[in-house]
Amino acid sequence: MELYIDTANIDEIRQAAALGVLDGVTTNPSLVAKEGVDFRTRLEEICAVVAGPVSAEVVSTEHDGMIAEADELIPIAENIVIKLPCIEEGVKACKTLSDRGVRVNMTLCFQPLQAMMAAKAGAFLISPFIGRIDDVGGDGMELIQQIRQIYDNYGFDTKILAASIRHPQHMVQSALLGADVATVPFKVIQQVLKHPLTDTGLEKFLADWKKTGASIRKTPAMA
Ligand code: E4P
Repeated sequence: MELYIDTANIDEIRQAAALGVLDGVTTNPSLVAKEGVDFRTRLEEICAVVAGPVSAEVVSTEHDGMIAEADELIPIAENIVIKLPCIEEGVKACKTLSDRGVRVNMTLCFQPLQAMMAAKAGAFLISPFIGRIDDVGGDGMELIQQIRQIYDNYGFDTKILAASIRHPQHMVQSALLGADVATVPFKVIQQVLKHPLTDTGLEKFLADWKKTGASIRKTPAMA
């Protein structure tokens, strides 16, 4: 499963990129607003750090406005992916942009037929928001499973991007169900690499090794 970070915070993106396993970035208007920075400048900064897909969302809600905004965002960097909402105008704009060879991420997906329409319109990514479904008592994972099944039934190659991830279990379940990508807040990326048994196990290994008085590196006499 590919790993994207879901943030517009450049420090978090730099730290996640330094792990060497980051495949892309997703932003949204709320994440950008939280940073209080110029959107275009921030996108340039992000694209300089991450070579993989970087999703930039439009704020128009009708086709021509979406295309006009996309045309402003596309030249920022070659890895910009245009993010459009799963509404009628968004599907039309997805088709227009996809036909032009522009990669599109269809966002705010809450039911499987939105995902099917996005795929038919040529979307590069579909973003089911699993955490927000769970938040209102639904089952976000069921949506991932339904989309996977539909895409496999008909051979759609749109990638399923599990979004609105709240905790590592969402990532585990998404991976088990065959989501292609997970976009994850920085806090969750850090949680993924934490386990108390890893910490105590490492502590014991190091303490035991210290008792040997040995060194893995060659001493000058051995060299
Ligand atoms: C995805 O691209 C969205 O930015 C994101 O995952 C939304 O998550 P939220 O429900 O935590 O806001």
